[in-house]
Amino acid sequence: MIMDRDRHSPEISKEKYIELVNEIHKLDYHYFVLDRPLKSDYEYDQLWNQLIEMEAAHPEWIIEQSPSRRVSGEALASFRKVTHRFPMLSLSNSYSIDDIAEFEKKVKRALGSEDPIEYFVEPKYDGLAVELVYEHGLLKVASTRGDGSVGEDVTHNIKTIRVIPFIIEALKQVPVFEVRGEILIFKSDFLKLNKEQEEAGQSIFANPRNAAAGTIRQLDSKIAAARPLRFYAYGIGQTDGFAFRSQHEIHQTLKKFNFPVASLEDCSVCKSAQDVIQFYEGLHQKRSKLPFEIDGIVIKVNSLNLQNELGLVARSPRWATAAKYPPEQVETVIQDIVVQVGRTGALTPVALMAPVKVSGVTVAQATLHNQDEIDRKDIRIGDAVWVQRAGDVIPEVVGVIISQRPPDSIPFKIPEHCPICGSQVEKPPNEAISRCSNKRCPAILKESFKHFVSRRAMNLEKVGDRLIEELVEVNLLRRFSDFYKIKKDQLLSLDRKGEKSVANILESIEKSRHTQLSRFIYALGIRFVGEQTAKSLSTHYSSFQALSHSTEEELLLIPDIGPRVAQAILAAMKDEDFVCDALELETKHLIFERKESLTGMQLQSKTFVITGTLPVSRDEATHWIEAHGGKVLSSISSKLNYLVVGDDAGSKLDKAQKLSIPILSWEDLQTMVQTSKARE
Ligand code: IVH
Repeated sequence: MIMDRDRHSPEISKEKYIELVNEIHKLDYHYFVLDRPLKSDYEYDQLWNQLIEMEAAHPEWIIEQSPSRRVSGEALASFRKVTHRFPMLSLSNSYSIDDIAEFEKKVKRALGSEDPIEYFVEPKYDGLAVELVYEHGLLKVASTRGDGSVGEDVTHNIKTIRVIPFIIEALKQVPVFEVRGEILIFKSDFLKLNKEQEEAGQSIFANPRNAAAGTIRQLDSKIAAARPLRFYAYGIGQTDGFAFRSQHEIHQTLKKFNFPVASLEDCSVCKSAQDVIQFYEGLHQKRSKLPFEIDGIVIKVNSLNLQNELGLVARSPRWATAAKYPPEQVETVIQDIVVQVGRTGALTPVALMAPVKVSGVTVAQATLHNQDEIDRKDIRIGDAVWVQRAGDVIPEVVGVIISQRPPDSIPFKIPEHCPICGSQVEKPPNEAISRCSNKRCPAILKESFKHFVSRRAMNLEKVGDRLIEELVEVNLLRRFSDFYKIKKDQLLSLDRKGEKSVANILESIEKSRHTQLSRFIYALGIRFVGEQTAKSLSTHYSSFQALSHSTEEELLLIPDIGPRVAQAILAAMKDEDFVCDALELETKHLIFERKESLTGMQLQSKTFVITGTLPVSRDEATHWIEAHGGKVLSSISSKLNYLVVGDDAGSKLDKAQKLSIPILSWEDLQTMVQTSKARE
């Protein structure tokens, strides 16, 4: 290929590359495990980009432990089975203080001694157990617990978890070192994840454990990479050359190897069952404040000698037990079931209940998800029910107390007409969700506007839900572009709006005009287009206009986009009102930041002619070349720099060949930009 590659070649070498790999591992550890970032996100991104560029320019340098290998990009066809060298055991359960004292008695009886016993106690994480195998300090295999003897190989997903070390320098000489622990999702991340799932029209998870387990069991590691998985280490399997004396020592060593472990406040060495009970109660008090869910504590005899002496009963060790906290389920009554209409028109039944306190929070409402769920649990208005907070977070109706069902309880059916606008409700046969069929339903409009102004979308900070509702009601807000046409007087005429607050609102609208294409695409609320998909679209299309002309084939070439998302985008682009509104925003109201990090000026002052069918549309190709500084011409002359050729090229190809003009495929052109970027 014809390019002056080494023009500005900076000093890069394999040594520099290895340094960069190590630097990024160090930054990840400080950021994810210690929660004390060493550099700003911007500086981190710069280093990350350098790494990717070095690897593109020198694929022969790439090492297995490069952070870029965290996502393979390929989906597996099936899970491989992995046999654990030592079985992964389960725990006997106890539920009360009495049970803890009983456990101590059993231990002493089995040991035939009344000597005091030390215990190591820590949270019982509510996630799923995995084993990580390090060979010579390198993470080689990660597997689920499975039946305890044989689990499934989930290395591809585990590698995406940034808190899990890829390399452990101290273990370079150690053939095998196995670490066991729990994969989980933080409560706050879980709420965000469910919100994103909902926004993207995808099903939501019942609790953080289900979300974590569902993610680990995916064949495609891109899904895990996009989800906020965490890990806490609590034990070991085979550890060549190590002779640990206590559980506490294992904990300390895992910490030294940079694994996240229970913090100093959340674990303890206890000198007696009495101490353990105190810890059990203390952690119960803190339970709702922990960032992750726990369902109790795990009590382990601290000395490994004693553990060996105690051995197993069936699949559970005699030296450990789980002391669980009772799930806090509280009784209340369903007073009514109402239907809410969301942004995608989905009708969600919501139970209104007599307010009760559950795990320290007053609960008066709970989503019942859909008709199938109501039917499955046979929930009726007037029923006495048990409620809990799923994973300490979302109120959930666990079940009906049938023995207390009043004779006049009323079964519930989702209405056939939208409760807001009265239009027909649609329910595709293979979906659980019913939807309002009216695209202009005021409920849908209000929710779409709320999404449009939200922080991660257009960020109209001072435009709150109440204002949107008022504006829709007085007909000042019918389409997205109306936000940018609202006048001061109109706002002042609204209920209780003073000069100052109106000025703030207008200022925040004005500020939002400076935005990025990805935010704008996300804000439009196309079904299934969440933040991530919007970002992918914005790197492949230079404008909404280009996106509005996309074809299914083109969309499917974009990594994150499958047939369902592509169909949803194409369906949105058939809606003339929607497209007109978005184009008006793009051309009249919004000002897009240039995508500095993506587009350099690698094609500065080069001229191109395009012929034949490229994998992307003509518009898109032209925009892309221009964004990189090139110029697209329509006819060939001897001065032309390059001809870009797609399928079924015609006479232009012959002409260019006669004039000895360099010929590139679309892929060649991409590589040319990539490599010249790497070498800049
Ligand atoms: S120790 C025999 N420690 O509990 C030793 N397990 O029933 C068992 N778990 O599947 C492991 N937190 O996923 C241990 N701090 C902790 C734990 C823990 C959660 C889970 C683990 C396992 C189950 C055992």
